[in-house]
Amino acid sequence: MALDINETIEGSFQLVGGNFANAGEASSQLKHALAELGVDEGIIRRAAIATFEAEMNVIIYAAAGWLRYYISSDRVRIRIEDMGPGIEDIELAMQEGYSTAPDWVREMGWGAGMGLPNMKKNSDEFKIDSVVGEGTTVEMTINFP
Ligand SMILES: Nc1ncnc2c1ncn2[C@@H]1O[C@H](COP(=O)(O)OP(=O)(O)OP(=O)(O)O)[C@@H](O)[C@H]1O
Ligand SMILES: [Mg+2]
Repeated sequence: MALDINETIEGSFQLVGGNFANAGEASSQLKHALAELGVDEGIIRRAAIATFEAEMNVIIYAAAGWLRYYISSDRVRIRIEDMGPGIEDIELAMQEGYSTAPDWVREMGWGAGMGLPNMKKNSDEFKIDSVVGEGTTVEMTINFP
């Protein structure tokens, strides 16, 4: 179901490492934007899960970052860029259950090692790039049925 829109609807959010108070803000705004446009609920749920996991990773692991989304008639693209330690072994990081989350993060209920696999699972296209010592970029696309 393509949306009846001509222009791309964009949003962008600054993410700050350690700022758990802001966690979930980007995903909840994207959710509302999609709902207002009448996007299918299942699609909204996928976009919200993928976005939420991405913002959590920046807040937990990076110093700072940006999340941007672009809604067009047939899909939503989400791009998360951070300045942080980067990921040395992306293949390993993508495995279910792999996590380097420290104890204080686990005590908050995070660190199951499911974020990246769930981002991939919930997107139609998923790309991750990382440079150790510089940062990580994730790009996800979710198509509208
Ligand atoms: N933006 C990032 N910068 C640096 N390292 C990252 C980033 N995102 C993920 N990682 C690394 O990849 C690992 C796996 O990430 P993933 O999101 O799958 O699991 P997690 O964050 O450890 O746990 P969960 O997401 O289930 O709470 C992390 O533990 C971390 O080592
Ligand atoms: Mg995670």
